Amino acid sequence: MARLRLAVPKGRIGEQFVRLWRRAGFVWHDDDSRKLIVAQHAWDGEVILAKPSDVATYVEYGAADIGVVGKDMLLEWPRRVHELLDLRIGACRMCVIGLPTETRPRVLQDMPRVATKYPAIAAAHFRSQGLQVDIVPLHGSIELAPLVGLADRIVDLVETGATARDNGLVVYETLMPITSRFICNRASFRLKNETISHLCDRLSGAVQSLNTEDEGNE
Ligand code: PRP
Repeated sequence: MARLRLAVPKGRIGEQFVRLWRRAGFVWHDDDSRKLIVAQHAWDGEVILAKPSDVATYVEYGAADIGVVGKDMLLEWPRRVHELLDLRIGACRMCVIGLPTETRPRVLQDMPRVATKYPAIAAAHFRSQGLQVDIVPLHGSIELAPLVGLADRIVDLVETGATARDNGLVVYETLMPITSRFICNRASFRLKNETISHLCDRLSGAVQSLNTEDEGNE
């Protein structure tokens, strides 16, 4: 195998990816320290632990050969990377969410306001519907915005639906399903093609077998 650097998001998606990686038959060495680069002697490489929204940047610039990133990130910030595989982890959906109509506070603006971490996706969606909206960018806890009169609607990810429900919000529309993707730097894809193709084949098999198992458990 060619020497590889793999960028993985810290947190739950990263943990799900490790499960897939091991299922694909590869060794994953965990490091209990807070180091952000973990050597992987079993496959002559290293793992870098990145903030989820930064993974694609490392891969695009070649600081990592391959990485794991949500489709939401790739749609919001298009990247010059190859998208090799749908890992089918981190499944959720991008939605338009708001208060039920009868309890919706009046926002003193002519143009409806939409708060979101995904300004490009939200703007494209409302433009495609011929609607003019004022996009309010936020970085987290988006569900707060309609509750305190900052926005009429939000565009955000829904996984279990608990955050929306517990805050008395309803889903008005689903824009698209979202899952995590296996991405690759363009130059690495050419230079380390044999190694990366082998990885992809094995991971693809692991994705299929996990899915079959999950369906069997339903
Ligand atoms: C995400 C998303 C929603 C929530 C949806 O937020 O932005 O707020 O999860 O999950 P649920 O449907 O299972 O409740 P995240 O936890 O990433 O934190 P954030 O609000 O700070 O972005």
